[in-house]
Amino acid sequence: MNPADRIIELTEKLNYYNDRYYQDSVSEISDQEFDLMLKELESLEAEYPELKQPDSPTHRVGGGITKNFASVVHRYPMLSLANTYSEQELLDFDERVRKGLNGESYEYICEQKFDGISLSMTYQNRLFVRGVTRGDGVKGDDITTNIKTLKSLPLKVNNKEDIILPDFFEVRGEGFLPFESFERMNREAEEAGEESYANPRNAASGTFKLQDSKEVARRGLDAYVYQFLSDDEIFSTHEESLIALKKLGFKVSETWRKCNNMAEVMAYINEWEQERYKLPLATDGIVIKLNSFAQREELGYTAKSPRWAIAYKYKAESKPAILRGVTYQVGRTGAITPVAELDNEKLNNKGIHLSGTTVKRASLHNANEIERLDLRIGDTVFVEKGGEIIPKVTGVDLTRRNLFISQKIEYPTHCPECGAELYRKEGEANHYCPNEKGCPPQIRGRIEHFIHRKAMNIDSLGEGKIELLYEKGLVNDAADLYDLTYEKLFGLEKVIEDKETGKIKKIGFKEKTVQNILEGIEKSKQMPFKQVLFAIGIRFVGATVAEKLAGFFKNIDAIKSASYDELRTAPEIGDKIALSILDYFQNEDNNQFIERLRAAGLQFTAGNEVKEIEGEALAGKTFLYTGTFENFEREALEQKIEANGGKIVSGVSGKLDYLIVGEKPGSSKLEKAKKLNVKMISEIEFMEMLAL
Ligand code: IVH
Repeated sequence: MNPADRIIELTEKLNYYNDRYYQDSVSEISDQEFDLMLKELESLEAEYPELKQPDSPTHRVGGGITKNFASVVHRYPMLSLANTYSEQELLDFDERVRKGLNGESYEYICEQKFDGISLSMTYQNRLFVRGVTRGDGVKGDDITTNIKTLKSLPLKVNNKEDIILPDFFEVRGEGFLPFESFERMNREAEEAGEESYANPRNAASGTFKLQDSKEVARRGLDAYVYQFLSDDEIFSTHEESLIALKKLGFKVSETWRKCNNMAEVMAYINEWEQERYKLPLATDGIVIKLNSFAQREELGYTAKSPRWAIAYKYKAESKPAILRGVTYQVGRTGAITPVAELDNEKLNNKGIHLSGTTVKRASLHNANEIERLDLRIGDTVFVEKGGEIIPKVTGVDLTRRNLFISQKIEYPTHCPECGAELYRKEGEANHYCPNEKGCPPQIRGRIEHFIHRKAMNIDSLGEGKIELLYEKGLVNDAADLYDLTYEKLFGLEKVIEDKETGKIKKIGFKEKTVQNILEGIEKSKQMPFKQVLFAIGIRFVGATVAEKLAGFFKNIDAIKSASYDELRTAPEIGDKIALSILDYFQNEDNNQFIERLRAAGLQFTAGNEVKEIEGEALAGKTFLYTGTFENFEREALEQKIEANGGKIVSGVSGKLDYLIVGEKPGSSKLEKAKKLNVKMISEIEFMEMLAL
């Protein structure tokens, strides 16, 4: 079979299996067979990029980097919904609808209010061409490359005889991070000593706007669609459009229901109040929409929202719990975090059941928060978990305080782990343990940070193994990792208890484990400078800041010798980060640590930095543009061309492949292009090229 036919065959087959899996939950072939076919397609596409299909499943693995997302004006503005928490206001809404429709009969569709970020997806000739965030409702960010990674979103919609689609249509829905992906992401962030996200919505929003689409693909986003838009109305009811969207291959949540009156709406709301916790994603209420599109038109819109829909929001669930005690955690920076140990009234160590999960602990953040809440051990406290997934203590039930039993909380003056006297930095609410060199959780935390995936990526080591190495006196800082040998490691063992589950497990260093550890350490010497810079753990220098610094200063010595003002000239480096960097290099221990890492062979100079790449659709082609454009500012247009492999030239010549002609084009360019027979394309045609 020739490569062209094979590429088409593989694309079709893989898309079919993908849809069966993500839409119908059926695996028709094994993961292994699937991966094999995908690999074959990838290598064929690498060899013949011009044959790559617009709906190729390889788009889903990501790979392109977008530095600045282009701003795109929505064809139809993205409005918001009026909100209510009360049943009475819902009845008032229904009354307004009844009056507005002058006695006609009407139906509602109730849907879940998914707690993510709204997305707009444009299709042209059945192909996905563009994905945009809501932004300010009028214009949003073009995040096409990231949206392409959503496995449940069709890159080409099914061809259904009974649905006659317009050439252009838009589908809207909610992008979200399922609980499972969210929890994994936060676990990883915690292991790296980074801030975790407060809830899946924030995490989804951050992820959709990542520059690196490969990382987006890895995080496991998903989307439900709930709206079809086109210039010509092709459906007459919302119900019809939802059924059609599903047939076309979109992921439509099965949770919607048609309701004939407010009693049915209320029944739906009550049913889902608890049921919603069984869904794989966060929801924060119910959306009630008029079913008929003609009736929607009759009611119209206010400046901000449609008059034909309303969102009913559930109140955050709050439950009482007993505060058994407060424990104190020491982080890698020495910051102390007080944690409320919570239980039910029977004090049987089973915690309380809240919004679908068991809660036994909640962060109290710092001493001020304990004071603000006026907490005492033994108190009955209110614990709340709304859209926020992390539970919080919101107050004390003073009517249930037993003055004889409850105990005042004495905030520790000394570190619970090493005994050093705690101190507070000016302007910060946290207490800190100053014993950087001798406090075990700080030492272990720094090494755990060092091996993190985004840092040195030594995945053959983990928390338990580091604890063992530290206890045996083999590593006291990350540079010690590079002195480890087979002889030192072989045969070490330890029994550890998982703090969350209480399970006991044994870790032992046998031949294979030792080999893996040493290989992982060896490989880390090749990690790029930006990762090394993140790994060494300068306060406030996270992975993104490290990347910016590495790109700007190119090597560690330049950063070390930079003055405050020089640091501030680097992109996104503010006062806090600049001071922290200066502080870091003023400490001789840190400089020695860096020298030991340098001697071990780590990369302290930037190599080839990543280029902004979205695809190769315009590879080898030259472009020039004239006039103004509906969807792109000039800079964004240039960026789009370059990110897709095209080149921008300065003037019209016989060598120019395309002149993109916008509104009010320059007449000299047009004339010259005509004379030289240069192909002229419209903005839409240019966008079509990008979709390919
Ligand atoms: S319909 C005119 N349906 O809620 C707006 N929105 O406050 C039509 N949302 O920005 C939106 N679930 O991101 C609709 N089933 C659902 C929804 C939903 C979540 C979000 C959406 C929108 C916001 C409106």
